[in-house]
Amino acid sequence: MAYAIKVNGAAHNVDVDGDTPLLWVLRDVLGMTGTKFGCGMALCGACTVHIDGAATRSCITTIDSIGGSAITTIEAVGATAAGAKIQKAWLDREVVQCGYCQSGQIMSASALLASNPHPTDSDIDDAMSGNICRCGTYVRIREAIKDAAQSSGQGG
Ligand code: FES
Ligand code: FES
Repeated sequence: MAYAIKVNGAAHNVDVDGDTPLLWVLRDVLGMTGTKFGCGMALCGACTVHIDGAATRSCITTIDSIGGSAITTIEAVGATAAGAKIQKAWLDREVVQCGYCQSGQIMSASALLASNPHPTDSDIDDAMSGNICRCGTYVRIREAIKDAAQSSGQGG
């Protein structure tokens, strides 16, 4: 069946079964491989994208559930104000180790900062607890989110 979806501001028509996870539409149909497959069961966060600004696990989000909602992926989150601040902080703090989890981490952190410019430690824990990092970059992730929040406070 054909579905009209909006990804990173562009309209796409995709012909897939309705129960196809968004993750596979992004990666296999649209060739946008920045969004990663980890567990396929909403347990690791590697596949996180934004749907209407909310951090969402694309591995369990079927294409027929999306409708006209706006999808943002790691390929374009840097064009948003919060995404740009998060990506800069990630580079400044050299957060990334192997990198596999990091697009999902950045998507969750960007959604947090967009909705809550000055998150507390508890807010950060709540927003990031579903994103697993086998390399243990959690301390640098927390520092980077705080840096990005501080730059929000400075109007930067
Ligand atoms: S691949 Fe979606 S949460 Fe792990
Ligand atoms: S940086 Fe390697 S899994 Fe997170």
